[in-house]
Amino acid sequence: MTHTLAIIKPDAVAAGNAGRIIAHLEERGFRLLAARMTRLTRDQASEFYGVHRERPFYGELVEFMTSGAVMPLVLKAESAVGKLREAIGSTDPAEAADGTVRKLYAESKARNAIHASDSDENAANEIHFFFSDADLLATR
Ligand code: CMP
Repeated sequence: MTHTLAIIKPDAVAAGNAGRIIAHLEERGFRLLAARMTRLTRDQASEFYGVHRERPFYGELVEFMTSGAVMPLVLKAESAVGKLREAIGSTDPAEAADGTVRKLYAESKARNAIHASDSDENAANEIHFFFSDADLLATR
Protein backbone atom coordinates (compact mmCIF):
# COMPACT_ATOMS: atom_id res chain seq x y z
CA MET A 1 0.00 0.00 0.00
CA THR A 2 1.21 3.52 -0.79
CA HIS A 3 -0.08 7.03 -0.16
CA THR A 4 -0.96 9.94 -2.41
CA LEU A 5 -2.38 13.43 -2.09
CA ALA A 6 -5.57 14.68 -3.70
CA ILE A 7 -6.95 18.21 -3.48
CA ILE A 8 -10.63 18.76 -4.16
CA LYS A 9 -10.41 22.13 -5.88
CA PRO A 10 -12.49 25.30 -5.30
CA ASP A 11 -14.89 24.64 -8.20
CA ALA A 12 -15.90 21.23 -6.84
CA VAL A 13 -16.16 22.35 -3.20
CA ALA A 14 -18.27 25.39 -4.19
CA ALA A 15 -20.54 23.24 -6.35
CA GLY A 16 -21.24 20.92 -3.39
CA ASN A 17 -19.47 17.96 -4.97
CA ALA A 18 -16.81 17.29 -2.30
CA GLY A 19 -18.79 14.52 -0.59
CA ARG A 20 -19.64 12.85 -3.89
CA ILE A 21 -15.99 12.93 -4.97
CA ILE A 22 -14.81 11.39 -1.67
CA ALA A 23 -17.48 8.68 -1.96
CA HIS A 24 -16.47 8.02 -5.58
CA LEU A 25 -12.84 7.50 -4.52
CA GLU A 26 -13.77 5.30 -1.54
CA GLU A 27 -15.96 3.17 -3.80
CA ARG A 28 -12.95 2.66 -6.05
CA GLY A 29 -10.85 1.28 -3.23
CA PHE A 30 -9.07 4.30 -1.74
CA ARG A 31 -8.92 4.59 2.04
CA LEU A 32 -9.10 8.10 3.47
CA LEU A 33 -6.16 8.61 5.88
CA ALA A 34 -6.37 12.36 6.46
CA ALA A 35 -8.55 15.25 5.32
CA ARG A 36 -8.77 19.02 5.87
CA MET A 37 -10.77 21.92 4.58
CA THR A 38 -8.78 25.11 4.10
CA ARG A 39 -8.33 28.09 1.81
CA LEU A 40 -4.90 28.52 0.28
CA THR A 41 -3.10 31.84 0.58
CA ARG A 42 -1.45 33.25 -2.53
CA ASP A 43 1.96 32.27 -1.08
CA GLN A 44 0.84 28.69 -0.43
CA ALA A 45 -0.68 28.23 -3.91
CA SER A 46 2.40 29.80 -5.56
CA GLU A 47 4.70 27.45 -3.65
CA PHE A 48 2.56 24.36 -4.18
CA TYR A 49 2.44 24.93 -7.96
CA GLY A 50 6.02 26.27 -8.15
CA VAL A 51 6.99 23.75 -10.87
CA HIS A 52 4.50 25.48 -13.19
CA ARG A 53 5.89 29.00 -12.54
CA GLU A 54 7.02 29.49 -16.14
CA ARG A 55 3.79 28.19 -17.70
CA PRO A 56 1.38 30.66 -19.32
CA PHE A 57 -1.47 29.44 -17.10
CA TYR A 58 0.39 29.88 -13.79
CA GLY A 59 -1.26 33.18 -12.82
CA GLU A 60 -4.72 31.81 -13.60
CA LEU A 61 -3.92 28.62 -11.67
CA VAL A 62 -2.85 30.49 -8.52
CA GLU A 63 -5.86 32.82 -8.81
CA PHE A 64 -8.25 29.88 -9.12
CA MET A 65 -6.68 27.79 -6.35
CA THR A 66 -7.01 30.72 -3.91
CA SER A 67 -10.58 31.56 -4.97
CA GLY A 68 -12.32 29.39 -2.37
CA ALA A 69 -12.13 26.45 -0.02
CA VAL A 70 -10.19 23.33 -0.98
CA MET A 71 -10.00 19.89 0.61
CA PRO A 72 -6.58 18.20 0.72
CA LEU A 73 -6.92 14.43 1.24
CA VAL A 74 -4.37 11.72 1.94
CA LEU A 75 -5.45 8.50 0.22
CA LYS A 76 -4.10 5.00 0.61
CA ALA A 77 -4.29 2.18 -1.94
CA GLU A 78 -2.11 -0.27 -3.81
CA SER A 79 0.00 1.87 -6.21
CA ALA A 80 -1.96 4.89 -4.96
CA VAL A 81 -0.34 7.52 -7.21
CA GLY A 82 -1.06 5.77 -10.51
CA LYS A 83 -4.41 4.46 -9.34
CA LEU A 84 -5.58 7.95 -8.36
CA ARG A 85 -4.41 9.53 -11.61
CA GLU A 86 -6.37 6.89 -13.47
CA ALA A 87 -9.45 7.52 -11.31
CA ILE A 88 -9.41 11.29 -11.85
CA GLY A 89 -8.85 11.25 -15.64
CA SER A 90 -7.11 13.67 -18.03
CA THR A 91 -6.41 17.30 -17.08
CA ASP A 92 -8.91 18.40 -19.73
CA PRO A 93 -12.36 17.00 -18.84
CA ALA A 94 -13.22 16.88 -22.56
CA GLU A 95 -10.53 14.20 -22.88
CA ALA A 96 -11.21 12.41 -19.57
CA ALA A 97 -12.49 8.83 -19.74
CA ASP A 98 -16.07 8.00 -18.77
CA GLY A 99 -16.50 7.41 -15.06
CA THR A 100 -13.50 9.50 -14.01
CA VAL A 101 -13.82 12.30 -11.46
CA ARG A 102 -12.98 14.97 -14.04
CA LYS A 103 -15.43 13.58 -16.60
CA LEU A 104 -18.14 13.67 -13.95
CA TYR A 105 -17.33 16.91 -12.11
CA ALA A 106 -14.80 19.14 -13.93
CA GLU A 107 -15.78 22.21 -15.96
CA SER A 108 -12.58 22.92 -17.88
CA LYS A 109 -8.82 22.38 -17.99
CA ALA A 110 -8.37 25.11 -15.39
CA ARG A 111 -11.44 24.42 -13.23
CA ASN A 112 -10.86 20.68 -13.19
CA ALA A 113 -12.27 19.61 -9.79
CA ILE A 114 -9.31 17.69 -8.38
CA HIS A 115 -5.51 17.57 -8.16
CA ALA A 116 -3.48 14.37 -7.73
CA SER A 117 0.24 13.88 -7.08
CA ASP A 118 2.15 12.66 -10.15
CA SER A 119 4.94 10.58 -8.53
CA ASP A 120 5.68 8.88 -5.21
CA GLU A 121 8.31 11.53 -4.46
CA ASN A 122 5.90 14.40 -5.15
CA ALA A 123 3.19 12.61 -3.17
CA ALA A 124 5.44 12.54 -0.08
CA ASN A 125 6.27 16.24 -0.48
CA GLU A 126 2.68 17.26 -1.19
CA ILE A 127 1.33 15.24 1.75
CA HIS A 128 3.76 17.07 4.06
CA PHE A 129 2.74 20.39 2.53
CA PHE A 130 -0.67 19.96 4.18
CA PHE A 131 -0.31 17.37 6.95
CA SER A 132 2.07 16.77 9.85
CA ASP A 133 3.51 13.38 10.77
CA ALA A 134 1.25 13.51 13.84
CA ASP A 135 -1.84 13.89 11.60
CA LEU A 136 -0.81 10.80 9.65
CA LEU A 137 0.25 8.67 12.61
CA ALA A 138 -2.98 9.43 14.45
CA THR A 139 -5.05 7.65 11.82
CA ARG A 140 -2.83 4.65 11.14
P1 CMP B 1 -3.31 19.85 -11.53
O1 CMP B 1 -3.34 18.38 -11.59
O2 CMP B 1 -3.76 20.49 -10.28
O3 CMP B 1 -1.82 20.37 -11.86
C1 CMP B 1 -1.54 21.54 -12.59
C2 CMP B 1 -2.76 22.27 -12.96
O4 CMP B 1 -2.58 23.29 -13.93
C3 CMP B 1 -3.72 21.31 -13.64
O5 CMP B 1 -4.24 20.40 -12.71
C4 CMP B 1 -4.73 22.27 -14.25
O6 CMP B 1 -5.73 22.66 -13.35
C5 CMP B 1 -3.85 23.48 -14.55
N1 CMP B 1 -3.68 23.61 -15.99
C6 CMP B 1 -3.00 22.78 -16.79
N2 CMP B 1 -3.08 23.20 -18.07
C7 CMP B 1 -3.82 24.34 -18.05
C8 CMP B 1 -4.25 25.25 -19.04
N3 CMP B 1 -3.92 25.08 -20.32
N4 CMP B 1 -4.99 26.29 -18.65
C9 CMP B 1 -5.30 26.47 -17.35
N5 CMP B 1 -4.92 25.64 -16.37
C10 CMP B 1 -4.20 24.57 -16.71
